[in-house]
Amino acid sequence: MVKLRVPASTANLGPGFDSFGCALSLYNEYTFEKCDHLEITGCPVEYCNERNLTVVAIKKTLQAMDQPWEGLKMEVDAHIPVSSGLGSSAAMIVAGAKGANALYGNPLSDQQLFELCTEMEGHPDNIAPAFFGGMTVSVMEQGKPLTVRFPVHPELRFLVLIPDFSLSTKMARSVLPQTISRADAIFNESHAGLLTIALERGDEALIRAAMQDRLHQPYRRSLIKDIDAVEKAAMEAGAISFCISGAGPTCLCLTKDPTLAGRLQDHLSTPNSRWKVLDLQIAE
Ligand code: HSE
Repeated sequence: MVKLRVPASTANLGPGFDSFGCALSLYNEYTFEKCDHLEITGCPVEYCNERNLTVVAIKKTLQAMDQPWEGLKMEVDAHIPVSSGLGSSAAMIVAGAKGANALYGNPLSDQQLFELCTEMEGHPDNIAPAFFGGMTVSVMEQGKPLTVRFPVHPELRFLVLIPDFSLSTKMARSVLPQTISRADAIFNESHAGLLTIALERGDEALIRAAMQDRLHQPYRRSLIKDIDAVEKAAMEAGAISFCISGAGPTCLCLTKDPTLAGRLQDHLSTPNSRWKVLDLQIAE
């Protein structure tokens, strides 16, 4: 029997589109056991079948290990909301890959599993933190993901603001332009570079300056109801910065203030939606 937990993750962090990611202290927990048929408990009935993303990842991993698929017992205790911008699909994929590998004595290396997971997800930004933990920056090198963790100032807290509606990543990517101007490319690469230093130092002014973006957020804001009101409330309450978490609709505030989550929750009244605030830490 194998037990594991996989963290939620926030991707992009403003300018680091499809590259930056951070593991957060909100988890899906799994128990896997070898079995001659498929048995899934702990998730809605529509996910209790072979289309379940974790099962798809298990089958891909078995294939990579030259092991036949017979079935599996899987118990799920999921806390990461689905289609919300908190890396739920990355967590499901990483759980399946790590779970299958562990059930067969870990024949595949971390890098092999990480590549398999990235291929399934299509980009490494959520997979890397879900797999390795911490704050990560990832690049694709000749079709393969290369990732490093970098340190973040220990006082920084990650507040996620989760609305009562979801948004598919497919939809959120469909509104992005195919090409961008040189000015926008320079804007994002320079801000992303600055962001690594700003987060390590915990320098609030640098973080605020660095977390701006021209590649995805301007195009996605119209898909997220009440985002203007939520951003205004967060910044007026004293957040260091505000951005869309991954493809949204969840948003992310950075702060060092342990009282911000409570104060923000009390003052977060929006016309068309309800938002829940969670005060999370980096999951190492
Ligand atoms: N970087 C991705 C995006 C994250 O913003 O579309 C969601 O998979």
